[in-house]
Amino acid sequence: MNKPSLLITRSIYPEVLAKLEKHFQVDYNSTDEVYSKETLIQKLQGKEAAMTTGSERIDEDVLKACPLLKICANIAVGYNNFDVPSMTARKVQATNTPDVLTETTADFGFALMMAAARRMTESEHFLRNGSWNKWSLDMFTGQDVFASTLGILGMGRIGQAIAKRGAHGFGMRVIYHNRSQLSSPLEQACKAQYVSKEELLKTADHLVLVLPYTQQVHHTIGEAELKMMKPTATLTNIARGGIVDDAALVRALRAGHIAAAGLDVFENEPALNPELLTIPNVVLTPHIASGSRKTRLAMAELAADNLVAFFEKGQPLTPVNQI
Ligand code: GLV
Repeated sequence: MNKPSLLITRSIYPEVLAKLEKHFQVDYNSTDEVYSKETLIQKLQGKEAAMTTGSERIDEDVLKACPLLKICANIAVGYNNFDVPSMTARKVQATNTPDVLTETTADFGFALMMAAARRMTESEHFLRNGSWNKWSLDMFTGQDVFASTLGILGMGRIGQAIAKRGAHGFGMRVIYHNRSQLSSPLEQACKAQYVSKEELLKTADHLVLVLPYTQQVHHTIGEAELKMMKPTATLTNIARGGIVDDAALVRALRAGHIAAAGLDVFENEPALNPELLTIPNVVLTPHIASGSRKTRLAMAELAADNLVAFFEKGQPLTPVNQI
């Protein structure tokens, strides 16, 4: 029997590649270059399956030009690179990689929040550039995390995992806002209290964004929202670029409307607003929140398992749409 054809759009782990080669006729992008839309369409010609990352946009143009495509397995929990309504209309299965990255991503979100609050990278740059010549009482004093108020916007699996770290490990009061309120047992497990978005912005000492990106939440944190926050507050974004208006954030950090920010995701990444590089009170990381080796391997394995299950059992493990 002929194996189905699969395009793997980026470099993956050898053990996952070896597994996929047992089930598929594989076209593998070993160079890890990000394909242009034209190259992606060309590479997808005649392919029934694709393993993608957030860097490849699967939209109506791609779907129309690649009519044999049956499934795209994203190596990411987020799937805003997929036009899901178009995929569903064209009966293309979409899958993502939830759960396997929850704790690793929550660890990173917490670390980024702490780094921003305690000015870790700003002070490290000061030390590395040779500026440190004496200890001073008020040098790089930041904001406390322990026993402060943690605000979480987007209380899915990762939001809840961050809430638990704050409530149980750091004695924080946890407040959150979400499309829907959690069940009472889940709220108790996270020791979290549901509040309006306005109260979240006004009350949080440390606000962490963990909501999925959709057009509806584009610039959900903009100038007006940043002005509502405390001047001592920090903002951490491990969700997606575009949720924060980065230009407004630059202005808010400069004006002292908030104390500091931690950003792992950016509008138009990997390009970023150049002004961000000139501001000391922001910690910047290159979209690595789920990046422990173990978790990235688990994500690639889950994406592979989705592909195999789809062709062998007719149903992937973690579908995003019903086709
Ligand atoms: C990373 O951003 C992911 O969505 O998994």
